Amino acid sequence: MADKKARLTIDGLDEAIELPVYSGTEGPDVVDVRPLTGNGRFTYDPGFVSTAACESKITYIDGGAGVLLHGGYPIEQLAEHSDYLEVCYLLLNGELPTPEQKEEFVGTIKRHTMVHEQMSDFFHGFRRDAHPMAIMVAVVGALSAFYHDSLDIDDAYHREVCAYRLVAKMPTIAAMCYKYSIGQPFQYPRNDLNYAENFLHMMFGNPCEDYKPSPVLAKAMDKIFLLHADHEQNASTSTVRLAGSSGANPFACIASGIAALWGPAHGGANEAVLTMLEEIGDESKIEEFVARAKDPNDSFRLMGFGHRVYRNFDPRAKVMKQTCDEVLAELGIEDEPLLKIAKRLEQIALEDEYFVQRKLYPNVDFYSGIILKAIGIPTTMFTVIFALSRTIGWISHWNEFHSSPNKIGRPRQLYTGPSKRDYPA
Ligand code: SDX
Repeated sequence: MADKKARLTIDGLDEAIELPVYSGTEGPDVVDVRPLTGNGRFTYDPGFVSTAACESKITYIDGGAGVLLHGGYPIEQLAEHSDYLEVCYLLLNGELPTPEQKEEFVGTIKRHTMVHEQMSDFFHGFRRDAHPMAIMVAVVGALSAFYHDSLDIDDAYHREVCAYRLVAKMPTIAAMCYKYSIGQPFQYPRNDLNYAENFLHMMFGNPCEDYKPSPVLAKAMDKIFLLHADHEQNASTSTVRLAGSSGANPFACIASGIAALWGPAHGGANEAVLTMLEEIGDESKIEEFVARAKDPNDSFRLMGFGHRVYRNFDPRAKVMKQTCDEVLAELGIEDEPLLKIAKRLEQIALEDEYFVQRKLYPNVDFYSGIILKAIGIPTTMFTVIFALSRTIGWISHWNEFHSSPNKIGRPRQLYTGPSKRDYPA
């Protein structure tokens, strides 16, 4: 129900257009602009900078304050006290699980980690040097071929099973993408390992020896999964919601999210950060790259910096930076050159008027790649890891969309093309 009203006056209109204004539990009020259509007008907001496309209860971001809440819980507290699967439960259900609920949830996920044996045939159509994101988009989309008939998207139980399958299978598929690229056999999941340990086992284990995942690396891996789990209506989540609004198969919707995430402006930034740091190569070249990032005539941007919503530190980047220090110390990697470049780059950028004025801070992607590299994960797999982590966010929003009456998403436009004209006689 509208709390307040906005009145829009437009030159030439005798009466103001009355627009309902709604308040949420947190964040800015929203103006319901739907009455505009009745007045023959649309809103205009390229890039959806000022558009709330939906109502949601899952995640809240205060970009000015650098706050990120999942189900009301600050990301810093979840990173400190929770783990990825517990956050998956929270995102799906809106509440943290009881110990019994968590045990049941973890057990269910473990029993869905294998993929259909024929899925492995699917990989062999790709070249070994195919980008793993290209393989992942295809393989996850292909899951809809295996589960196309056991899914009534209006049935909450069917949606729940679909969410469990995806959370459980994404690590298996991600690891298969990596194993395929290095010509090693796929590793089956092991139910005696926890989620992150199992992923490291499938990534780095092999049939010739017993692989014991490092508890330190598994903990860091789980924290990376947790920090990337969800982030409100970002580009890939909005893509999944829009694809889902047509009633499409959820596995196909998740594949659309993976495709949207791949871009360097979004989830592809973690791979681009490492490439940038390696290209900088030495602290002496930082100034040159910062100058390029500030040059309006140079398309180069400081990867891992800036954010559509955060006009302060991305709280995930702070946790990631701390985790980075912990992992490198545990691994005895003292002077990681890329970390030194990253920290110096951050320091220079945060003192530079160009970045200060535009409120550009490190985002989630700035430090994550250094941790992943220390764990032994190749750069091309970074966005695959992001997609693995974000799947719970995507499917939670997809589920929320289908949990209440909904409409197909169909934005309009400001048309500036030719007016009606006849085909030449
Ligand atoms: C993710 O939305 C989410 O929540 C995403 C995400 C998630 O968890 O889902 O948080 C994950 O995608 C993080 C962002 C990863 N991308 C990068 O690190 C790529 C580098 N960053 C930029 O491309 C950019 O900051 C964006 C895309 C992230 C945000 O772009 P916006 O909001 O469209 O901002 P903008 O392009 O309008 O920039 C405003 C100004 C511009 O300068 P002026 O035109 O005012 O002179 O800031 C400048 C931009 O040129 N700018 C940068 C910059 N980012 C913005 N200049 C140099 N380097 C940068 N990184």
